Order: sequence, then C-alpha cells, then structure tokens
Amino acid sequence: MATYIVLLGPPGVGKGTQAKNIAATLHLPHVSSGDLFRENIKNNTTLGNLAQTYINKGELVPDDVTIGMIRERLSRADCQAGALLDGFPRTTVQAEALEMLLVEFGGTVNHVPYITGTESTLVERLGGRWTCKAQGHTYHEKFNPPVKAGICDIDGSDLYQRDDDKTETVLRRIQVYFAQTAPLIAYYRERGILFEVDGNQSIEKVTADLLAVLEK
Ligand code: AP5
Ligand code: MG
Repeated sequence: MATYIVLLGPPGVGKGTQAKNIAATLHLPHVSSGDLFRENIKNNTTLGNLAQTYINKGELVPDDVTIGMIRERLSRADCQAGALLDGFPRTTVQAEALEMLLVEFGGTVNHVPYITGTESTLVERLGGRWTCKAQGHTYHEKFNPPVKAGICDIDGSDLYQRDDDKTETVLRRIQVYFAQTAPLIAYYRERGILFEVDGNQSIEKVTADLLAVLEK
C-alpha cells in the first residue's frame, strides 16, 4: 500500500528544508504545493497567473484550483508508492478532498509530523531565507548559509529572495495559517496520526527527530 506523509507547520518553520532532507531516505517524492505554484508562475501558465495574485498577498489560493493541481501531481508515475506532502492540505476542505483522492489511489495519510515554531522564529527564518532558482533548495543567511553567497551549493544556480517573504506578507501568511490551517492539527490528532516535532532546534536535530518516527 502507498505511504502518504503530510508535513504540517506554520510558514517558515522548515517544512521544505526537512522535506528535502528526508524524502530520499523515505524513498518518497517531495510534493510541495508552494513549489508547484512557483513553477507555474515561472512558466507563465494560467494557473500560475491566478495563483500569483493570492500568493503575493499572503492569502491561500482557492481550494478547487489547489486540489486539482495536487490531484494531477499525485497521479504521476513517481507517486505510485506514495508521497511526502509539504504545504498541502492547508484547509479542512483540502484535507477531506485528499482523503477521497487517496481512496482512489489506494492509500491513506499514514503520518502527520507537525513541526512547531514560535512566531519570532518564523519571522526571522523567512526574513533571511534565500531560495535556489532551479530546484527550490533553501538557505538562510545566518543559520544555513551557502558556501558561496548567492549561489546554490547543490546545483550552482542563482539564489533569490521570495516576493512573499516581505515582512508585511509574512505577517499575513502567519495570520492565515492560524485561521485556516491550524484547525488541521486537531483534525489529524483525532485520527491518531499526528506527532509533534520541536522546530525551534537545529536543522539536523529536527531531521533526526522526524526520522526517528518515520523510519520505524
Ligand atoms: P509555501 O511555499 O508552502 O510557503 P509556506 O507554507 O508559507 O512555507 P514556507 O515555504 O515559507 O516555509 P517552510 O516551512 O517550507 O520553511 P523553509 O524550509 O523554507 O506556500 C506559499 C504560498 O503558496 C502560500 O502563502 C499560499 O498563497 C500558496 N499555497 C501553497 N500551498 C497552498 C495550499 N495548499 N492551499 C492554498 N494556497 C497554497 O525554511 C525557512 C527558512 O528557515 C530557510 O531560510 C531555512 O534555511 C531556515 N531554516 C529551516 N529550518 C531551520 C532550523 N531548524 N534552524 C534554523 N533555520 C532554519
Ligand atoms: Mg516551503
């Protein structure tokens, strides 16, 4: 049976960083809704143009559009054994849609690691984040700097700062998270599949805590 893992946590807590660290170990593809939107924006698609208007304001892209995009991604061949989901679901409607989708794909959500972080940590992490243009690898100017400033250690592409990492947009994203995504903590806790990991630790320690549970 396919394995699906949902990484839950506020903006900037380290979901993308951790997903990149653990996906290969778990033999699961990293499926990030934010990365899929950014790829569409880069390619100037209709979906990308629509998503951009929401992302730049720190608001969520409408559920139907987001669910359609994830359905298409999960139906690709590399997701046959499951996926490591980062940034989806983000509303109760999306969580319910995912459940139905996985019935179709012959699977279920097996684990929901919830990475916690204080608001000051989130703001500091997003303010110093640099992202690679080619594959979305993330760095932090203070906590995880690249060897050469402005260049990705892994693929050599240029690093950039995301438009939605401006302070006012970050604060809006955090508000939206508490209003629309935080209810998923109870949703998955009730199903007995949520476990908490303290995100206010080093990147390496968070990875170790995640794998201690997920590799079992
Ligand atoms: P998305 O791209 O998913 O953004 P997000 O959830 O706001 O999360 P981030 O990517 O900002 O943070 P992260 O937790 O991945 O942290 P990272 O590892 O980069 O979504 C963007 C937008 O798209 C949304 O606002 C919305 O508009 C739209 N969207 C996406 N999904 C949607 C959905 N399902 N429905 C509707 N709309 C949707 O780390 C951050 C920084 O901290 C980095 O610099 C990193 O190096 C550093 N860092 C990480 N961990 C540590 C650590 N332990 N110690 C020190 N530094 C650390
Ligand atoms: Mg991310």
